[in-house]
Amino acid sequence: MSLIKKAIIPAAGLGTRFLPATKAMPKEMLPIVDRPTIEYIVDEAINSGIEDIIIVTGKGKRAIEDHFDKSFELEENLIKKEKFAMLEEIRKTAKIDIHYIRQKEPRGLGHAIWCARKFIGDEPFAVLLGDDIIRNDKPGLSQLMQEYDQTNSSVIGVKKVPDEETHRYGIIDPLEKFGKLYQVRSFVEKPEQGTAPSNLAIIGRYILTPEIFNFLDAQKIGAGGEIQLTDAIQELNRIQRVFALEIEGNRYDVGEKLGFIETTLEIALERDDLREPLISYLDQLHEKNSNRSENR
Ligand code: UTP
Repeated sequence: MSLIKKAIIPAAGLGTRFLPATKAMPKEMLPIVDRPTIEYIVDEAINSGIEDIIIVTGKGKRAIEDHFDKSFELEENLIKKEKFAMLEEIRKTAKIDIHYIRQKEPRGLGHAIWCARKFIGDEPFAVLLGDDIIRNDKPGLSQLMQEYDQTNSSVIGVKKVPDEETHRYGIIDPLEKFGKLYQVRSFVEKPEQGTAPSNLAIIGRYILTPEIFNFLDAQKIGAGGEIQLTDAIQELNRIQRVFALEIEGNRYDVGEKLGFIETTLEIALERDDLREPLISYLDQLHEKNSNRSENR
């Protein structure tokens, strides 16, 4: 059993990359085939052994709470229509015990985490961001939890990204490597193009010690005018060891449009009810597009 029991899922961002879809609907509720993205994240936390989840919500995020709540009317309706498989599915999501806290203003990821400090208290905890879905037999978060249990230190999930994409991420400057674990010299949030110290990008999975709140308390403004979690981690690294772990598994960037479409297609292609008609549609589409390019 891991020492990590609590997880924060921040979901109070504005989701500007998906506007206008996210004007009235949280981006965490955008569906990948037929499940909202946040359900994949909650599943990863539970499959990793997390016992308590707190979701940081903001304005217009009621749909997230409703999604994980029990819906008597819907259940009755499904029973009447004898749709028992579907009933089982929706009951599963309502069984999970989730807590909520509101971030009153979207002041950045660091601020969202700080809003959950009372729920965390004085123990190490996990953070999972909804922008990254990680698919692997051993869940991404549990890989970090295992390292925490051995090192008693904060561990940040990273993955290699192409050089031209480093400016979109928090990037680590690695010092030494032990297997897949890195000792880190520094953490830089969204380095300017061409200045990144490596191509190891922070990918939305963290185990942090509660001392991180000492630095988040300062509410220092960082890149993009927001309170950045990466900046607080950089400060934490000055007083405690903070490791980075290259997470195993496929990572899907559902926080941006192309990644979202690619993920939807990949997951749909794994579904028995969708694979064949989808492949045949994609073939037709490919042919149509090839003809179009030839006629140009
Ligand atoms: P993003 O940087 O992806 O921002 O936040 P965003 O608002 O969700 O999306 P874009 O970039 O405008 O399209 C990373 C994570 O931090 C949360 C987001 O909900 C997301 O899970 N976050 C961000 C907060 O909870 N509060 C904030 O103030 C900012």
